[in-house]
Amino acid sequence: MLYSEKVMDHFSNPRNVGEIEDADGVGEIGNAKCGDIMKMYLKIDDGIITDVKFKTFGCGAAVATSSMATELIKGKSIEDALKLTNQAVVEALDGLPAVKVHCSVLAEQAVRSALSDYYTRQGIDPLPIVGEI
Ligand code: FES
Ligand code: FES
Repeated sequence: MLYSEKVMDHFSNPRNVGEIEDADGVGEIGNAKCGDIMKMYLKIDDGIITDVKFKTFGCGAAVATSSMATELIKGKSIEDALKLTNQAVVEALDGLPAVKVHCSVLAEQAVRSALSDYYTRQGIDPLPIVGEI
C-alpha cells in the first residue's frame, strides 16, 4: 500500500474543509510549476486559533496533509502553529511516499501565509515564507 491508513482516512474524509467568511487571517500558497493551490482561513482569538478551514486544488496527499495540518493547529497558540513543520504533518499521517512529501510543504506554508496575513492585519510585520515547494 502506497499510502498509510491515516492518509487514506484524511483524503476520503478531510477535516475542516471550507471557508471562513469573517476570517482573521487568510493564506494562499501556490506552486507556480504545477498550478496546485492551497487556501487556509484562520479565526484567531486572544492569540489562539479557534477555527481553521482550508481548500485545496491539489492531489490526494495535498488534501490529506492540509486536513491533518488544520487538526494539528486548531486550538493551539499562534506560536505553536508557527512551529508546525511539514515533517510533523507527514509524521502525524504515518508517512507519505517520497514523491509526495512536497505536497506537505504546501500545507505548512499555507498555515504560515495565513498567520502572516493575520499579522499584517494587526499592523505587525508579515512573516517570511521560507522554503521551496
Ligand atoms: Fe504541484 Fe505537487 S505537483 S505541489
Ligand atoms: Fe500537487 Fe500534491 S499538491 S502533487
